[in-house]
Amino acid sequence: MTTRWVGTSWKMHKTLAESVTYAQGLVAALRDEPGEYAGVQPFVIPSHTALASVDEALGPARDRPAGLLLGAQDAHWEDAGAWTGEVSVPQVADAGAQVIEIGHSERREHFADSIERTAWKVRAALRHGLMPLLCVGEPDAVQRAGGSREHVLDQARGALDGLSSDELDSVLIAYEPVWAIGEHGRTPHTAEIDGPLQSLQGEFGDRVQAVLYGGSVNAGNAVELLALGTVEGLFVGRAAWSLSGYLELLRLAAD
Ligand code: 13P
Repeated sequence: MTTRWVGTSWKMHKTLAESVTYAQGLVAALRDEPGEYAGVQPFVIPSHTALASVDEALGPARDRPAGLLLGAQDAHWEDAGAWTGEVSVPQVADAGAQVIEIGHSERREHFADSIERTAWKVRAALRHGLMPLLCVGEPDAVQRAGGSREHVLDQARGALDGLSSDELDSVLIAYEPVWAIGEHGRTPHTAEIDGPLQSLQGEFGDRVQAVLYGGSVNAGNAVELLALGTVEGLFVGRAAWSLSGYLELLRLAAD
């Protein structure tokens, strides 16, 4: 039985109350109907402000149904220091994070997360025993020019080269083409994403924990995406921001 990773980042959405209500409902659903979610590894990534509250709402990590994991959307590469407005890996770990999302295209585009910085952040996560979720993906112009495979390999190599096999073993990669993400994103044809996924699988597939796909995933395309031999899970935004939407995706991904 292969494990299918299905996670959601809430991006800059949800109040504390909304985050806690979602978390409580999620734990209850996973606990009440474990058979519905067999073979799925769920993870949720709230805003930093909601991490500690969601952690508490999910209950002790070792008791969470389906091995549910909690993640943070980003963290600084330094453990502490004069970095106003930033949070560190030890801080998000203290608030309950077990996974750290690194290099999402929105951070690369708007917050100067270069390949070099993603490499530092991956190392910071590993230093503290957290699981890096490295996001890679090519912009529209690169895809049109036929450079998708090279672009995502450059991003992945730049962040991951030099890690030991033990370190790589706890890394997740999410292939998220920039042109497919968000409300202005274009839903991909599987033929468009299979090439970059093949490249990532070819170079890293045996060495990392899993390679996921993200970008305009929804209940209508999840099964087709998961049927690709190169996709070991889904990383979801909009379609999982309601609890019912997320649970539907988890059920579709289940055995
Ligand atoms: P959407 O699912 O809303 O396209 O967002 C995907 C994403 O960016 C997940 O990180």
